[in-house]
Amino acid sequence: MMKTFTNIKDMQDKCKAWKAEGRRIGLVPTMGYLHAGHLSLVRKARQECDIVIISIFVNPIQFGQGEDFEEYPRDIKRDLELLEAEQADAVFAPSSRDMYPEGYSTFVEVEGSITKKLCGASRPGHFKGVTTVVSKLFLICQPDKAYFGQKDAQQVTVIEKMVRELNFPVNIVRCPIIREADGLALSSRNVNLNSEQRQQAAVLNQALKAAAREIEAGQRDVETVKQGMRKLISAQPQATIDYIEINRAEDLGEVKNLSGEKIIMALAVKFGNTRLIDNLIVEV
Ligand code: PAJ
Repeated sequence: MMKTFTNIKDMQDKCKAWKAEGRRIGLVPTMGYLHAGHLSLVRKARQECDIVIISIFVNPIQFGQGEDFEEYPRDIKRDLELLEAEQADAVFAPSSRDMYPEGYSTFVEVEGSITKKLCGASRPGHFKGVTTVVSKLFLICQPDKAYFGQKDAQQVTVIEKMVRELNFPVNIVRCPIIREADGLALSSRNVNLNSEQRQQAAVLNQALKAAAREIEAGQRDVETVKQGMRKLISAQPQATIDYIEINRAEDLGEVKNLSGEKIIMALAVKFGNTRLIDNLIVEV
């Protein structure tokens, strides 16, 4: 039977007891409104761990001023049904009030360019909010393994660096991007697209795949590849490009020319008020 915990201390005590019994805990951190992308992480955790915990918490401190914290979709009842069907052991769904009580002032921040480029440039403070809440979730749930999607490539790269540098005793597992039939990466935010925007959003994955083909055909100039993606995406009238970047896949470092390494092509594009991200790794 799956159990839902809203109280932080109860969740932490339960996890301590599980660990004392020698059970291996897998944690899947989410903001809820679950889709097949989230559930792929849950399934992977179910295969690899004795205890599977899913956290559902729309973390206010990772949203900036004017971002979509209020509009972020929520449906806890449906989420619980989906997780029950996946044979999860526990759902951790704390309140903001308990996670960040009045006067709260402790944060975990990965400094440097890794959190300042890409999504960090358009969302200052976002990754500080993510690393803070993920640290809290790790200390509460004490997972042996924690599961993150490649969909948020910069997020998982930042979390891996945090775990390494703060010596969190947890293994980070990266899971592949789950997509719709037309290639659009699943996202809780997709429901906020109108039908026209939804159709046009397929261009994101198409542009990444076109760029990958260009590289396979021998193109080695970063700017030319980015320009090609820019052209395809801006042909969609509803699309406003936030960024299109090519970086080293491993640590998101700069790449000058494409040669002999794994690169990640990443983009963020707004359709109306809905900001979507996608990425593709290519071995040059
Ligand atoms: P959320 O957007 O709910 O995503 C939870 C996890 O699901 C993340 O690791 C994300 O990368 C993964 N995910 C989302 N869409 C996916 C897809 N189409 N395929 C595969 N995995 C996918 O990311 C967050 O929440 C938050 O920032 C969080 C880490 C929970 C901290 O608040």
